Amino acid sequence: MRTVSSETMAIVKATAPALEKHGVAITTAMYRRLFENSEIEAMFDRAAQQSGEQPRRLAGAILAYAKNIDRLQNLGAAVDRMVLRHVQTGVKPEHYPYVAAALLPAIREILGEDVATDAVLAAWGEAYWMLAEILIAAEANAYEDAAAG
Ligand code: HEM
Repeated sequence: MRTVSSETMAIVKATAPALEKHGVAITTAMYRRLFENSEIEAMFDRAAQQSGEQPRRLAGAILAYAKNIDRLQNLGAAVDRMVLRHVQTGVKPEHYPYVAAALLPAIREILGEDVATDAVLAAWGEAYWMLAEILIAAEANAYEDAAAG
């Protein structure tokens, strides 16, 4: 399992309030970038129809959970719910780089490079991939269970 350094954790925790304060702007910028890919956009169109809501929780969750990277084992029920939605909407490991590639530039776009320095983006990238790895592993199990019937 991937782990992050205590330095990375410190950076993520220190910058989490700024990211959350600008959460709506970052989320909006992230989805604009993500939906440049029509295949990915279609996954969310379907999800929005199913849930009847704007699928805005994904980015908010990344911002909210990343600061808990030192106690992710406590996120059990929340992870289960993400895995369920991801399996329902067909999220696969190959989709994860698209979200990272949308989120990190969105953080820089909104906070500016004085706040979102290279070190800050690198730390958030590490936090993102640690979360992603947990989800990818749980989703692989869920897809296997579904295939086994
Ligand atoms: C570390 C990365 C990710 C995190 C933390 C995350 C988190 C979440 C959360 C919290 C939800 C809402 C679950 C609920 O209904 O309560 C969600 C839903 C969803 N996610 Fe992810 N996600 C991640 C990566 C991805 C990726 C890579 C994709 C595909 C491009 C994706 C596509 C979706 C879709 C389509 C939904 C359903 C939207 C909705 O109904 O609200 N997610 N995700």
